[in-house]
Amino acid sequence: MLRCRALLVSEDEPGRIAWLSGLNGAAAQLDNPWNLGFDAAEDAPAAIEALQGDGDIQLVLIDSRLDRAGRDGGGLASALRALRPELSLYSLLAHGDLPSSEPLAQEALDGYFEVDDADYRGWFRILSAELAEKAATPFYDRLKQYVAMAKDSWHTPGHSGGDSLKGSPWVGDFYDFVGENLLRADLSVSVAMLDSLLHPTGVIAEAQKLAAKAFGARRTYFATNGTSTSNKVIFQTLLAPGDTVLLDRNCHKSVHHGVILSGARPVYLDASVNSRYGIFGPVPKATLFAAIEAHAGARALILTSCTYDGLRYDLAPIVSAAHAAGIKVIVDEAWYGFARFHPAFRPTALEAGADYVTQSTHKVLSAFSQASMIHVNDPAFDEHLFRENFNMHASTSPQYALIASLDVARKQAVMEGFRLLARTLRLADEMRARINSTGVFRVLELDDLIPDEVRGDGILLDSTKLTVDIAASGFSADELQHQLFDRFNIQIEKTTFSTLTLLFTIGSTPGKMLRLYDAMARLAREARPARAGLRLPELPRFTRLACLPRDAFYEGGELLPLLDDEGRPNAALLERVCCDQIVPYPPGIPVLVPGQQIDMSIVLYLARLLRTQKSMEIHGLAEVDGEFHVRVLRADEMERLPGVE
Ligand SMILES: Cc1ncc(COP(=O)(O)O)c(C=O)c1O
Repeated sequence: MLRCRALLVSEDEPGRIAWLSGLNGAAAQLDNPWNLGFDAAEDAPAAIEALQGDGDIQLVLIDSRLDRAGRDGGGLASALRALRPELSLYSLLAHGDLPSSEPLAQEALDGYFEVDDADYRGWFRILSAELAEKAATPFYDRLKQYVAMAKDSWHTPGHSGGDSLKGSPWVGDFYDFVGENLLRADLSVSVAMLDSLLHPTGVIAEAQKLAAKAFGARRTYFATNGTSTSNKVIFQTLLAPGDTVLLDRNCHKSVHHGVILSGARPVYLDASVNSRYGIFGPVPKATLFAAIEAHAGARALILTSCTYDGLRYDLAPIVSAAHAAGIKVIVDEAWYGFARFHPAFRPTALEAGADYVTQSTHKVLSAFSQASMIHVNDPAFDEHLFRENFNMHASTSPQYALIASLDVARKQAVMEGFRLLARTLRLADEMRARINSTGVFRVLELDDLIPDEVRGDGILLDSTKLTVDIAASGFSADELQHQLFDRFNIQIEKTTFSTLTLLFTIGSTPGKMLRLYDAMARLAREARPARAGLRLPELPRFTRLACLPRDAFYEGGELLPLLDDEGRPNAALLERVCCDQIVPYPPGIPVLVPGQQIDMSIVLYLARLLRTQKSMEIHGLAEVDGEFHVRVLRADEMERLPGVE
């Protein structure tokens, strides 16, 4: 059931009693769609404790006499903002006191009441209106409204609200499967009252504004082609041909596609590698600082935080160093869109000062697949250029259910994100302990995951992503994945050679956890002797960029087989320059980028992946007559292309 609480914080006991009685009385008498009720705390520590324990508290009213040093309850307000930035905060001012003129104090607060003003019905109406604003879903509401209007459709899409499917003896089951509402809500840009994603001025613009406020951005844009597209849009907005961009070679493939599209000159930063578990770690701080210094004036730096495995950077000093060198910072938060809504995950990249942040709202919050957000805090943001690039990538027929799901996901994060994330953290911790109790499987801790090179770098772990060491079970990762799927009905996120990754989200439930634990415990009892000689393929390091990725990509090249006639790694590939991006998926991190020189470690790695990870897709290899090939530059192309220093 819907529940909202407002917390009054005051040392004035008679005052607390009067306010509580007046406000709860107003809540009982007036229209109260949010089921808003009022509680009190006698001082700042009690308020913080209440806020930590009750995720349904949405509003806090702070007696300004509580904290004279920080006028308007400024000290407590700042502490609460740090704890839960989505809270609405009000100051209760004594008669005759004026609101602080300090911009910081003003920013921390949403409004004021006067302590002696006993118009509790008036207070209640103001607070109720604030909740209505936060809980609004302008686009989703308008979409429902339009569907309810039951207009005849003489426009796209061709299924016409599902009418082409409904009742069909051949495809009528699809209508039943996806449901009437989804089909009726699948509309087109012809419907003006639903605004336009490509030029938003109405309900989409309003929804984006609410998202910007929620996520702490100056501006937020919805994207319906995933963060894969959001990354490309930002790259093309920021980078012109020849501009220098600093990036971790282990960035998602969409970032490398952005390099090709923009024509930028990439400077690859060597990430740390945990070869024991086959996991790429962050780029060491020293490498980052050195690159920033060596390439001062570069256009941008992009980092992934957190990674697929949950490793996140200590971003603030890195962003400061980049800004001091005139470099814009883009952070790919594809896996971290929820972070703003629980202090265990903060600071977010925006809070650490990043200029651009992309998030797969669909990966870790409740939006539909492909629904992504782009957040912008760059003071020099060129919206016109952004819009041109956004329009280059976005479909002119966006799926409206995706946009509605972004609106809804933002509302949920604001209204109940803290509570749900607290539960997710609890479940993840419980699961960690249970898995470890099998004595066979072990959840890796930060210490296990991070390579030595980054130990002093302030790297943190998002503990909702569980990496389980399976080596002692004697099963291979593929075997375990199949056992979990076939025998126990469980689909996990991904595997490496000796680990499984379990992703806890706000959709994880105790029931699912119970079944997963049961499966892991049974598999642990079936453990075999650990497999001797299970050697992980060495993750290949970046070699050398022979020419710009864009130049290599647009050449014709020639195809060479990955394996020679005897089935061995093909020596003819050595020293050749790759034209494509070769990406094992998941996780989507390239082993080769266009323009990169190939060496034996790379050929061996790919050959071994094909042999041992049969379920893994490897994007970028060409299949000819059932054999995998790599497209490489011909000698004449090599000669013609300018090199990169
Ligand atoms: C780090 C990173 N960035 C971006 C993406 C692309 O996100 P999407 O699937 O929303 O296109 C992924 C997807 O796996 C990713 O891991």
